[in-house]
Amino acid sequence: MAFGFLGVGSAYPDRVLTNRDLEKMVDTSDEWIRTRTGISERRMVDDATATSDLAAQAGTRALQDAGLGPEDIDLIIVATFTPDSALPSAACRVMEKMGIPNCMAFDLNAACTGWLYSIACARGMWANGLFCNALLIGADCITKYVDFQDRATCVLFGDAAGAAVMGEVEEGRGILGEYHSADGRLGHNIVIPGGGSAKPFSQEVLDKREQFIRMDGNEVFKFAVRIMRDSLQEACKRAGVEPGDLDWVIPHQANIRIIDGAIKRLGISSERFVVNVERFGNTSAASVGLAMDEAVRDGRLKRGDLVGLVAFGGGLTWGAAVLRY
Ligand code: ACO
Repeated sequence: MAFGFLGVGSAYPDRVLTNRDLEKMVDTSDEWIRTRTGISERRMVDDATATSDLAAQAGTRALQDAGLGPEDIDLIIVATFTPDSALPSAACRVMEKMGIPNCMAFDLNAACTGWLYSIACARGMWANGLFCNALLIGADCITKYVDFQDRATCVLFGDAAGAAVMGEVEEGRGILGEYHSADGRLGHNIVIPGGGSAKPFSQEVLDKREQFIRMDGNEVFKFAVRIMRDSLQEACKRAGVEPGDLDWVIPHQANIRIIDGAIKRLGISSERFVVNVERFGNTSAASVGLAMDEAVRDGRLKRGDLVGLVAFGGGLTWGAAVLRY
């Protein structure tokens, strides 16, 4: 038997932050944001909402889609770099919110690649008989870590959660091949300098605005275009298929120009890419699961389709998975 998708779900806040809203906050324009990133609007949580709230909503929808109940889940992984707090984990909070009884539950931080990493972890654990049905959630409330005085980053990100229930599926379906990696030497390109054990919160951290994301956008851009192509090609090779065989590619939604660059380098028709970056911006670990859930709900992605998932993110991390949905 094989390990694959039993159900998917997603969640995002009602509040929409448009490019016009951002024009009133920083020196930017709707035109600049749209032409440089492809983003028109993104979602933003209110002060009272935390990552585990979005994660639990998405998880509940994935559970319904799978036709399973909380008692059927025996592994929870929440991929996030914006947990509600350092302790307890977002996964344990989700567990409480969803009424899931005792099981293994933990957070995983691989930034925007986190949800794909969680699939790889779960697949390995499943093969060793450690659980039956996993709830894998990618969720981030990045707007809480965005400096709304920094125009180079604040226009890019939004809040959301994407989830899947994964477990046993019939042979021929499920994950066919995966490839994941990271290079810690490139970590300095996307950082939140303050608030961790290296630099705990202090007045100095706040004065220097080190509690917020800093990014070298150009470096990440060049890296992202190359690594999206390389990752998907390698995952296809391991799955024994050609990139051109894929019915759908669901890429991390960071910037339409990065996606366009990957489309060009892979030689796959743009119509086969699931893209929603214009409405959500970069939702980090939520991004691929959110786009996948949309494609399932609107009928594009059907049972039996050959799908490539591909992402890159802080760390720097990257990865891809090829599956028969
Ligand atoms: N509005 C107007 N002007 C801006 C804005 C803005 N919001 N942001 C930057 N600019 C200016 C810059 O200051 C610069 O001005 P200058 O030439 O006078 O110095 C000019 O626009 C060009 O800036 P660039 O950085 O060269 O613009 P670029 O075309 O590279 O786009 C962007 C920047 C959108 C950040 C792009 O580099 C990008 O998308 N990078 C990838 C980021 C990413 O995907 N990160 C994902 C990982 S995140 C994670 O893992 C959590």
